[in-house]
Order: sequence, then C-alpha cells, then structure tokens
Amino acid sequence: MPLPVPVLPQGVDPAWLPPAAFRAVGGRRTVIRGSGPMAETVHGEVAQACRRFGGRVVRGAASDGACDLVLGLGDEGLGEEGLGEEGFTCAREGGTTTVTASGGRGLLYGLFHVVRLGEAAFTGGWTREPHRPALALRMLDHWDNVAVHPVMGQVERGYAGGSLFWEDGRARGDLERVRAYGRLLAACGINAVAVNNVNVHETEAHLLTDRIAEVAAIAEVLRPYGVRTHLSVSFAAPVMLGGLPTADPLDETVRGWWATATRRVYEAIPDFGGYVVKADSEGQPGPFAYGRTHADGANMLAAVLEPYGGTVHWRAFVYDHRQDWRDRTTDRARAAYDHFVPLDGEFAPNAVLQVKHGPMDFQVREPVSPLIGAMPRTRLAVELQVTQEYTGQQRHVCWLGPMWSEVLRFRQEPESSVGERARGGLVAVSNAGDDPFWTGHPLAQANLYTFGRLAWRPDAEPREVLDEWIGLTFPEASERLSDGVHAVLDGSWRTYEKYTAPLGVGWMVQPGHHYGPSVDGYEYSPWGTYHFADRDGIGVDRSVASGTGYAGQYAKPWAGLYESPDTCPDELLLFFHHVPYGHPLKSGKTVIQHIYDTHFEGVEEVEEAREVWASLAGLVDPVRHARVAERYEEQLRSAREWRDQINSYFFRKSGVPDERGRLIY
Ligand code: GCU
Repeated sequence: MPLPVPVLPQGVDPAWLPPAAFRAVGGRRTVIRGSGPMAETVHGEVAQACRRFGGRVVRGAASDGACDLVLGLGDEGLGEEGLGEEGFTCAREGGTTTVTASGGRGLLYGLFHVVRLGEAAFTGGWTREPHRPALALRMLDHWDNVAVHPVMGQVERGYAGGSLFWEDGRARGDLERVRAYGRLLAACGINAVAVNNVNVHETEAHLLTDRIAEVAAIAEVLRPYGVRTHLSVSFAAPVMLGGLPTADPLDETVRGWWATATRRVYEAIPDFGGYVVKADSEGQPGPFAYGRTHADGANMLAAVLEPYGGTVHWRAFVYDHRQDWRDRTTDRARAAYDHFVPLDGEFAPNAVLQVKHGPMDFQVREPVSPLIGAMPRTRLAVELQVTQEYTGQQRHVCWLGPMWSEVLRFRQEPESSVGERARGGLVAVSNAGDDPFWTGHPLAQANLYTFGRLAWRPDAEPREVLDEWIGLTFPEASERLSDGVHAVLDGSWRTYEKYTAPLGVGWMVQPGHHYGPSVDGYEYSPWGTYHFADRDGIGVDRSVASGTGYAGQYAKPWAGLYESPDTCPDELLLFFHHVPYGHPLKSGKTVIQHIYDTHFEGVEEVEEAREVWASLAGLVDPVRHARVAERYEEQLRSAREWRDQINSYFFRKSGVPDERGRLIY
C-alpha cells in the first residue's frame, strides 16, 4: 500500500517541500519498480503529486517508452561495487528519466533528487550519473527534554518553540508532525536522529528502559523516511535505573545490566541506531569516577551494541568547567586533544568519537579542532551546531553554510579534509521545534537543509546548496526573489561576525542564555573562556613559545602558521595571540581600528539586508514575510547594542579614538 504523505497541521509551513515543488514529477507518467517499505513511501509521494498535477503512476513493468520517469529498485547496471543502500543512479535517454537504486533509501533519495531538479529532470538527455553519500551517517542530535527543565526549558538551546517529539512530559500522542519532519529530513539526506538531550536528566534517563515504547513510537514514524532513531543515555544509568552500586565500565554486573537493557531496546526498535553519550562533561557522569578511561567507557557500550549493529557516539566535549580564572596554565581549547589523542587506536570499531568542529564551543569563529587531524586510528564524527546558540538564536539571520563548508574543506594534513576524516559521520544539533516555521526564523530553515546536503557531500558548494533550497522553498521564485534571498543570506555569517566578537576571540556574550553582548560576562568565570583585554591589548596567547601551547597541537604547516602573529590568519588572530591594540593586521588596519570598522559595517549590513527583505514583500507569502521582517527589527536593535557595547568597551580600555571620528560612547 502506498504510504500516505503526512498531513501538516493547519498553519504549519511546508518548508522545502511545498506542494508546488512536486509539479514536474506530478505532471508526468511514472513507473515504480520494486517492493518493500521504501517503495511504498516513494509511491505515496508520487501518487500525491500526480493527484495534484494530473500525472499518473503505476507499479511494475510498464514499457519504458510509455513513461517519463522510472524509479526502480534493482542492481542492474550499478557496477561491481554497487552504490550501497543509499546510492542511486540517474540517467535520461529516449525521453525517459531512470532512477535505479539497490536499496530502499537510495530509491527515496533518488526521488528527491528528481524533485530538486524539477523540469530539468525531464529535459535533454544524459548518461548514467552515480550519486552516493560521502558519509554514511548524517545525523541530528535533538537537545530535547521530555520534562520541561527548570533552567533549560523543553529544548536546551532551542529557539523554535517546544519539542517536536515530547510534550507534557511524554511522547506526543499525535506523531503526524514527526512524520512530516522525517520527510523533510529525507529530502535533504539526513538519516539519523537522536531524540533527547545529551544532558540526560532524571525523567529522560528512563527512555532507555521503562519508557522505551515512547521512543519506539517515534522510530516507527521516522523509519519510512529512512531515518534511524538514536538515544542519549546517562553513563550512570546502571545506578540511576538499575539500582546497582556502581557504573564502573569494567564491572561485570554493570556490563550485564547494559547488555540486558540494550537487548530490550532492540526488541522494541529492531533498527535502533545506538547511544549518544556525554560523559565527564559539564557535570554529566562518566568513567573518570571509577578511574577508567573514555575508551573503557565507550567500548563497554560498543560491546553491548555490536551484536545488533548499533553504534555508540561518544562525545569528546570534555574539559574542566570549574576552572579558576586566575589559573593561566589551563587552556580549555587544549582539553579535547589532551584527553583523547592518547587513546587513539583504543576505541572499538563501532565506537565513534564525536568531536565539535572547533576546540571551544560553536563560537562564530574558531579554528578547526586539532583533534580531528590527530586520531587516524579512531572513527570520528564531526559535530556542528545548527541551532544558533552563539549565532543569533534564530532571531538573527545567520546562514552557516559558508562556515561549515570552510570547516569541512579544511586540511590539517594535505591528504585529507575534515569532511574525509569524518568517517563516523556528520552530526549537528538540530534547530527545529514545534514552531509553525519549524525553526523560529523562517530563513533558519536554510541552515537545516544546508547541513543535510553538506553531510551528503561535504565538498559541495554552499551557494549551490542554497540555490537548491531557494528553488524548493520558493518554487515559483522570480529572479528578483532568488537574488534577494541570496543577498540576505549569502554574507550573513560574516555580517554577524562583524558586529559581534572580533578576530576569533569569542565569548563576549551574556552568561547563561548567551544572547546579546557582555564583554566581561565570561571573563572571571569558571568556564575557561577569556579574552584577557587590558589597557594595552587583547587576545589569548596560545603559542608554544610563550602561551598555552595549543598551537602546537596542529600538524604542519598549521602549527607554524598559528604560532606567530605575523603568519596567523587575521580572522583567528585573537584566538591565538595577545596583541597590542595597535598591532597591524594583514588588511593594513590596526586591531582597534578593525574592531571599530567591522562593528559599524556589521550594523550597516543588517540595515541593508532589512531593506532588501522589505523590498521582497509581495513576492513572499505574507505570513513568512512578516515573521522575517519582525525578526529583522530585533536583529538590528541587537546589532546596534553589540556595536555600541564592543566599541565603547575597547575605546575606554585602549583610549584610542576611531580614525573616522564616529560616535562611540
Ligand atoms: C554548550 C551548550 C550546552 C550544551 C553543551 C554540549 O556548552 O551551551 O547547553 O549542553 O554545549 O554540547 O554538551
């Protein structure tokens, strides 16, 4: 039976799958070959499109000449090594477009490929093109709590309303919206979701055991879209849930407890993806309490998951969050490398070390984590943050495609980029919630889409991905609309960087919620997040020669380039060095003048973008237009606040006037 396409609740935005995106497919004659659950998903999609646009879809063997599109399961012509469960080929000959896949997910991805191409899928001709994801795991971590947390709320760092999965302390009874979410994820290539916060609180710990049925219900509706379900678990679960006196990973009763719990998980969810673990990190329990290593902890869980094909994602976000700010020898940026590099080669094959892309914590500008280049014998996953914690909290427009692309293309050693190193997959913290636009800011949908597509192809050109997103989201877009959307999104990350923390220094945010400026908010805190500004200069000396030695964690040539302020790239100067305000940048400006200039420019760029958006009224659906326009008012207010606080702070510290005599307070 064809699977019916999810029905969106009244008022919920269709995001990048509006009905009109299916016009080209829906007006044609399609044959679907093959069977299995995913063929039913594909059939349901095409059937709905045909009902709307007058085409026709049949199952089985109609002669090719009688149809425009064949979507078929089979190995024929896929070559010796095949394209795996997720790959497909696409060819067009004699007026017929043919998608062939050997696995169900490949068929679904093939369909969405055709949808993305639109009319171009049915024009001209081309020989068989192979498509397959570069990374097998393309995953979203939801930092969703089941019970509303007194400080963090329903979704930790969530800026898009409540949770898609959880409400009133339990899994939603109506999961139609989750089904629609799964469909959106499939359309951008995401194939795994962890459904609860990495900080596992009391209620959420029970999802692993007595509340696994709720997770199973979610898994059930995501499965037809090729999305596997994962769970964040507490390392202390044997104590919290099992009543054992210890969670020591080398203790036999502890292992036995996890083995039983895991068997029950797989009884409920046969294709369960595995566990995500935040251990010995920001107060979460871990193996250190028992004198064991992170490899001991991860391998214990890997062993119980292994018989079922599951994976443990063990996070490398381990650092001392109770640091004394007076202590200049401890450098948080060093922590992940110092903890994990000595363990390279010790992790089980199904233990994936999940590393944040930068050494600190998702700031608007960080160098690439040196850990990513330093563990060749470990399966690594790279973690990005789609939810805009430090990048405007979905009240500001900040399209992160260019930043992620820089990270993924970065080569610590010439032979491999970050995207190639991420053999364990690309993971991101989701920005979606139960908001009618899914992501609070309607334009933040572009971040979610871009993440999925970059996980499929880490070397993709982000602007081309944005073109795809625009084409799908605004299927009737005129050139003016498309240009306008590009104009507001393309440079928005750099604009955000300009009016916030300069030259890689980071952390000048309000403590706790992290929205808005506070230059000294984290300066005397225990979190290891300092800028060390005084009357003479600013920045953190992370050189080997005179600083914390962090620069030495990189391979050549980066260690050398970062080591000296003369060769360090401008945009990271204050991350690596403490320099005088008069220090000349490669741009020719001094550091202080750069701070002033970028802060004025950043605000001007927001003003311009707001005007561009205003000019698109009438070309965009009015509700969406109004939502974005309203957020621009807040972005502009906030950008001005950033500009004035940062400029005033550094003017007062340095006493150096702005060369151009602009108003500084
Ligand atoms: C950040 C964020 C936390 C989160 C943590 C993590 O520090 O502010 O809310 O728990 O990252 O990644 O675990």
